[in-house]
Amino acid sequence: MFEFIRPEIQQYFVESDKDGTPFSREIRSLVYQKAKGVRDTIAFGTKNDITAIGYEFSYHSLAPKHVREDENKVIFGGDCTKPYSASRLNISGISFGAISPNAIRALNKGAKIGNFAHNTGEGAISPYHLENGGDIIWQIGTGYFGCRYKNGRFNPEAFAENSSDDIVKMVELKLSQGAKPAHGGILPGVKVTEEIARIPMLEAGVDAISPPMHPEFSTPIGLLEFLAKLKNLCGGKPVGIKLCIGHRGEFMALCKAMIATGIIPDFITVDGAEGGTGAAPLIFADKVGTPINEAIIFVHNVLVGAGLRNRMRLIASGKVATGYDMLTKIALGADTCNAARAMMFALGCIQSLQCNTDKCPTGIATQNKHRWKSLDVPDKSLRVSNFHRRVLSDFSEIVGGLGLSSPEELDASHVRKYTDIGVSKSFAEIYPMAKTGELLDPAAQGVYADLWKSAKAESFN
Ligand SMILES: Cc1cc2nc3c(=O)[nH]c(=O)nc-3n(C[C@H](O)[C@H](O)[C@H](O)COP(=O)(O)O)c2cc1C
Ligand code: SF4
Repeated sequence: MFEFIRPEIQQYFVESDKDGTPFSREIRSLVYQKAKGVRDTIAFGTKNDITAIGYEFSYHSLAPKHVREDENKVIFGGDCTKPYSASRLNISGISFGAISPNAIRALNKGAKIGNFAHNTGEGAISPYHLENGGDIIWQIGTGYFGCRYKNGRFNPEAFAENSSDDIVKMVELKLSQGAKPAHGGILPGVKVTEEIARIPMLEAGVDAISPPMHPEFSTPIGLLEFLAKLKNLCGGKPVGIKLCIGHRGEFMALCKAMIATGIIPDFITVDGAEGGTGAAPLIFADKVGTPINEAIIFVHNVLVGAGLRNRMRLIASGKVATGYDMLTKIALGADTCNAARAMMFALGCIQSLQCNTDKCPTGIATQNKHRWKSLDVPDKSLRVSNFHRRVLSDFSEIVGGLGLSSPEELDASHVRKYTDIGVSKSFAEIYPMAKTGELLDPAAQGVYADLWKSAKAESFN
C-alpha cells in the first residue's frame, strides 16, 4: 500500500520546490499558477545557485523594447497552396489512447480559445479532436494509424480523405521521438478497445504496433519522395517531419537528399532526448538520443551551412514550460516551440508518473471512463489557453528585456551558460556556428564539413 501511495506522499508532503522529476515542484507550480490565472510572482529573490556550472541565463539591456503581439505568429509553408499561420507555442503530439477523450477535448478547446495548434500524436484524428474546432496538426507515425491497410502499410485514400478536412492545418510525419528514439511502440491488445481500434483503423484486441522504422521508405531520398506524395494527397498543406537527433551524419544525408531532389520539408520538429511519452523503456529514455539544446543548434547550423535554413521552419520540443524555455530554443535556432507535459500540467496533471498503468488520478492518461469523466472540459480548456497566453506574454517581455523588438532577432549569443567556475560563455561561443551555404563549398573545413563530406543522399547509414 505504501509503495502504491508513495508518489502522492512524496509530492504533497516530502518534495521541496527544487525536487521532483522530470519537472520540479517549482516549475509545476508556475504552470498551475499561469493556467489558473493566479499570482505567479516570488518573494525575496531567486532560490537558484545562479553561478553553478551548467546554469543558463541571459544579459539584459538598459534599453528594453516592446515586442508586438503579432511577432508571435509565424507562417509555415509560405509557398504552399494552404500556408498556416502558427503560434510560437503549440501543443505537442499526445495521442488518443495515451490520453483520454476529455483530455483531448480540453486541449483542443484550449487551442481554439487561444488560437494555436493541437498536434494529434500518432494515434490518429479521433472525434474528440474535432468537437471544438481547434486547429489540428495531424501526425502520422510508423504505424500509419488513421491511414493504413490492415497489413500496416500506408493507405493513400484514407490519408487523402482525413487530411482534406479544413481543420487539419499541417501534416507531421514522425520518424522518432526523444523519449524512445529508434524504439517504435506498442499499445497492448487489452487496451485496444473497439473504439480505440476503429479510429486508427486497427483490429480490436490485437496489439497495435508502431515499428521502429517506416515500411514505406528506407533511404533519405525515399523519405522525401514520400513527403512529396503526402503533400500532393493533402491538397498542398504544409508537410514536415518530427525526429530526435541521433547519428549526425544521417541528418546531413537527409539535407543532401533535399538538395538532390529539391523536395524540402515545410518544417522539421526536433524533439529532445529529455522528451516525455506515455510509456518507454528506461534505457531508451535515459541513454539514447540528443538533448534539445544541443540538437536544435546542430540542426539549425547544418541547415544554414547547406543553404536550406530559409526554406523551412524549425520547431523545438523538450521540457518547454516557461517563456525563458521558449527564448532558449528560439535563440538556438527554432522558430516555434511545442509543449506536451506542460500542457498536461495545465490540464491538472500532478506528475504521479502512472501514465502507463491506466490509473491516472487526474483523468488525463487513462481510458477508464470513471476516471476521465472527472476531467472538467470547460474549466481545463480555459486553463490550457490561459497558460499559453501567459507564457507567450512572458516570452515577449523577456525578448524585449534583452533589447530586441522581435524574436527574429534572437540568436545563440543571447543565451549564456556557466561552463566552469566563474566562466560563462554564450552558446555561440560554445558551439561552432556555420555560415550560410558554407557546406556547399567542396573546400569547406571544420566540424560540420568533415561529417558532411561522408554523408550520402542515397543512404542513412
Ligand atoms: C503522454 C504522452 C504521449 C505522447 N505521445 C506522442 C505521440 O503520439 N507522438 C509523438 O511524436 N510524441 C508523443 N509524445 C512526446 C511529445 O510530443 C513531446 O515530443 C515530448 O514529450 C517533449 O515535449 P515536453 O517535454 O513538452 O513533454 C508524447 C508525450 C507524452 C507525455
Ligand atoms: S497525473 Fe496522470 S498524466 Fe500526470 S503523470 Fe500522473 S498518470 Fe500521467
